[in-house]
Amino acid sequence: MSHAKSDGKGFTNIDESKDRQYFVDYLDLVRSRSGVKEGKNLSFSLLGLKPGDQVLDVGCGTGEDVIALAEIIGEKGRAIGIDNSEVMIDEARRRASKSNTSNVEFHKESIYQIHFPSEKFNGVIVDRVFMHLEEPDKALQEIIRVTKKGDGRIVVHDPDWDSFVIDSQYKDVTRKIVKARSDLLKNGAAGRKMYGMFKEAGLVNVTVSGGVAIFTDYNPSFQHLELEEVSRIAVENGLISDEERTRWINDLQSKGEQGRFFASFMTFRTTGTRP
Ligand SMILES: C[S@@+](CC[C@H](N)C(=O)[O-])C[C@H]1O[C@@H](n2cnc3c(N)ncnc32)[C@H](O)[C@@H]1O
Repeated sequence: MSHAKSDGKGFTNIDESKDRQYFVDYLDLVRSRSGVKEGKNLSFSLLGLKPGDQVLDVGCGTGEDVIALAEIIGEKGRAIGIDNSEVMIDEARRRASKSNTSNVEFHKESIYQIHFPSEKFNGVIVDRVFMHLEEPDKALQEIIRVTKKGDGRIVVHDPDWDSFVIDSQYKDVTRKIVKARSDLLKNGAAGRKMYGMFKEAGLVNVTVSGGVAIFTDYNPSFQHLELEEVSRIAVENGLISDEERTRWINDLQSKGEQGRFFASFMTFRTTGTRP
């Protein structure tokens, strides 16, 4: 079982968390999963970047995507990462300094107040951030503001935690835990909302594609999905009893031992152009 020190609320305010390293390790764990690299590459290609372009990664985390984007746009371009966590920005700068890229920069700032001038960027990418936002519409307006008019591209990728499925013999407890997982986040169903939000915001050439994240190894899937923490919070909030939680976890653990653990959720990649 995992020993993650998470409150299940995700990446809203990492700097105030008791265990900041947990979040850095968590992002590395996600990145190591099969299919994640391919998804990232798909997002990069959907940005339609050219050499010399300026690109912004909002909620850049450990900065790996910024470093990859810098390679795509070359020395004459600029790849910039912003994140509201100092822990993440420090880590991103440390990783960038070990890479061969010179055309990157990182700033600690919020998606709601980006210090760059309007229409600066040819592309803006936001990966797994909207699910953590209290005011997603305001955030979208701000990223549109910094995107170039005419052909500037925006790519947003997010899971939809209301699509979370877990194979358990305790169906009712599972439903309550899925609800708890989604409701713990500020915007747990972000994935499904982005298409409509892009349209309402007046973006054009709006497309959406879906992916399915599938987890069949009990470890580290259990940790990745934060099932220990989320089920504990479900008990604290009176959604399930302690006994129900123990039975539920034992069932999943036993499925893991039999090699038949299964959990999954959907993710959506939404793209648009600023007219
Ligand atoms: C799940 S992580 C994803 C990191 C990175 N995009 C990736 O794909 O590995 C979410 C990131 O969004 C950042 N974040 C959360 N709320 C934010 C906000 N209001 N403004 C800027 N960054 C934010 C967090 O600090 C965290 O680094």
